[in-house]
Amino acid sequence: MAVSTKAEILRAIRNSSDYISGQEICDKLGVSRTAVWKVIKQLQAEGYDIEAVTNKGYRLLSYPDILSGSELMSRLNTKWAGQRVYFHKETESTNDDAKYLAEEGMEHGSLVVADHQTAGKGRRGREWVSPPGEAIYMSLLLRPDFAPDRAPMLTLLMAISVAEVISGLYKDLKVNIKWPNDILVQDRKVCGILTEMSAEPDYIHNVVIGVGINVNQKTFPPEVEEIATSLRLCQGEMIDRAQIIVAVMEYFEYYYGIFAERGDVSDFVHIYDSYLINRGREVRVLDPKGEFTGMAEGINDKGELIVDLPDGSAVTVASGEVSVRGIYGYV
Ligand code: BTN
Repeated sequence: MAVSTKAEILRAIRNSSDYISGQEICDKLGVSRTAVWKVIKQLQAEGYDIEAVTNKGYRLLSYPDILSGSELMSRLNTKWAGQRVYFHKETESTNDDAKYLAEEGMEHGSLVVADHQTAGKGRRGREWVSPPGEAIYMSLLLRPDFAPDRAPMLTLLMAISVAEVISGLYKDLKVNIKWPNDILVQDRKVCGILTEMSAEPDYIHNVVIGVGINVNQKTFPPEVEEIATSLRLCQGEMIDRAQIIVAVMEYFEYYYGIFAERGDVSDFVHIYDSYLINRGREVRVLDPKGEFTGMAEGINDKGELIVDLPDGSAVTVASGEVSVRGIYGYV
């Protein structure tokens, strides 16, 4: 059974406000009664609580935090972002998978999602601890037709997409972005983004935006426990990972459309700055040419951080070239 048929059957049951009969599903999707029945059995075995009542049909009562290709495809309402999902129960790194798929010619918007990464990668060569069953590991493949120097702005679009989704779903939580692209909830890191690009000096082959979101973890390894948290720890309840992935794809697709038309992030500066935890705070800029401190003011239309210096002048710093630390610890 193709993932898409399974996803379509799941979508039909999910979207029905009451029982949906097997016949209605068959007519809608052009599949046989036996095929529908087989899919329902599979879904029930995967943990979906689907009630089947003679002469009435099927009804989805509840489902736990299920992450699978069919689950995501049955919930996605985008035009291109995530419309082709590659789901792995276990993989080394979704970024590496997406880069491989890029070489294989997979289309713009393909999304790799994993339940578990055995060699998750963080920025600057660090490891991204990726236990099974608890978090989101996903990588979106893009094939933009603009110059490579604009690629860092895509990371910024992803950062605001994630921030908007979390703050929209959990209104009481304090959501921030630490420049350039760490998402913090209640002052601790919940999400990191690793963007990798294959390009010639004037031409982008592809960009892979890897997103790791701490969703249902209850503990963290000692090396990050001081700075990391999960949505579950902040919100006090189990969180549905698929809902977050789907919402992030929807936001990203919307923002990408505006960005592609405009060519810069000017339409998003106010959103980004409203989340920017460094704004109005002293930062230490770790520039390879020499460290300096200043006051972070916000970002410009290119997504660079504007830093006011003690002598009254201002400099802009680009992500990838420098690292920024708060004066008092992580933020
Ligand atoms: C960071 O260091 O803050 C960036 C972390 C990025 C982690 C994600 S998880 C999905 C994707 N696959 C990887 O190997 N890394 C990114």
